Amino acid sequence: MIYKKNKLIFDNFDIRYLGKKFKTPIYCYSLKTIKNNILNLKKNFKKIKPLFCYAVKANANLAILKELKNNDLGADVVSQGELMKALKAGINPKKIVFSGVGKTEGEIEYAILKNILLINAESKSEILTIEKIAKSKKKKIDIGIRLNPNTDAQTLSQISTGKKENKFGVDEKTFIKLVNYAKNSKNLNLKCLSVHIGSQILNYKPYKNMLSVVNRTIKKTNYKFEYVDLGGGIGIDYSHRNLKLNLKKYSLSIDKFLKKNNCKIIFEPGRSIVGDSGILITKVIYIKEGYKKDFIILDAAMNDLMRPALYGAEHKVMPYIKTGRLSKKTYEFVGPICESTDRFSTVKKFQKLNEKDFLVICDVGAYGTSLASNYNLRAKPIEILIKGSKIQVINKRQKISELI
Ligand code: LLP
Repeated sequence: MIYKKNKLIFDNFDIRYLGKKFKTPIYCYSLKTIKNNILNLKKNFKKIKPLFCYAVKANANLAILKELKNNDLGADVVSQGELMKALKAGINPKKIVFSGVGKTEGEIEYAILKNILLINAESKSEILTIEKIAKSKKKKIDIGIRLNPNTDAQTLSQISTGKKENKFGVDEKTFIKLVNYAKNSKNLNLKCLSVHIGSQILNYKPYKNMLSVVNRTIKKTNYKFEYVDLGGGIGIDYSHRNLKLNLKKYSLSIDKFLKKNNCKIIFEPGRSIVGDSGILITKVIYIKEGYKKDFIILDAAMNDLMRPALYGAEHKVMPYIKTGRLSKKTYEFVGPICESTDRFSTVKKFQKLNEKDFLVICDVGAYGTSLASNYNLRAKPIEILIKGSKIQVINKRQKISELI
């Protein structure tokens, strides 16, 4: 996104043009950015040649899933709904892994029916359930077991998943016991060790620590895993201060790991593929003077973009027209919802704004629409995808009548 003659342009489209044509709020994605992100991951992990299973939870829009499929990606799903959508997008079932701590019998049966690559189990009970279903169908099912490596991902505590107090995976001791159980089962084909320590990770060291725990655990099991699934978590630069994960260093640690363990690597990237590809175009409804600050009341709210309210996450806000005239007051960007947490950000020196101005909230491609709700009976926004010189409507704006 750049300013051209002081007007904000997204992938060659003027923000006001989009705002007027489609009415705000709008989720707008750039296919070019998505493709560049995929290329960047492929390039950095070239030596490893991993299988990329896109984490559908980051953004489950069907048109986007189809584009990812066209770029050879598989999928990481965490519910029957996500699995059905990945299949509908045409993603090869042999490139789909199923994660999650609470897969129901129905979901497991569906995954078995669809012949997916791996069901990554997260507990003894789940392994017994998969085995029971496999037995009743006289099948041998390919599974993984998720290890909880007790590694601090050094990210927001709410999106940290690899510490022993988190519900995910099993600890090393249990893991070894479960490997011994699964390898002797007639109905289970243990193929994978999986881990995922958290999301929005910007430092490669937690990954390095995770790999050393994985290495140690594999040694202790004395078992040959065909796959090691390292999960997702690669962070993006929300602050726009060039804070990036050093993929080279991460890749080098994996190279070293592979010298000791001959296996195929799976990644489950979500945010790093779609995160910076999306913006939320919004308009100022009112400006209201508050105590020591002005409230900029937008037509987008926490139901459209939940991350700031849920995690205190910061998304950069940019004005459509750059005037260079700063406001004397601090601005608090809020939505119309009846919650004090319906707040996007507080900025001390923002440019002076007027009612009806267009604004852009950046980096909302991941966990934007997928976390959106109809809270306060607000209709969900339209979604559009910029494909070169074309604009594709990839989700219509919900009609209020659908909610009544
Ligand atoms: N694999 C597993 C098993 C996961 O649980 C997740 C994310 C991913 C892969 C993808 O992680 P990514 O590459 O996107 O970081 N709603 C939060 C993020 C929650 C992530 C949950 N699991 C947010 O808005 O930041």
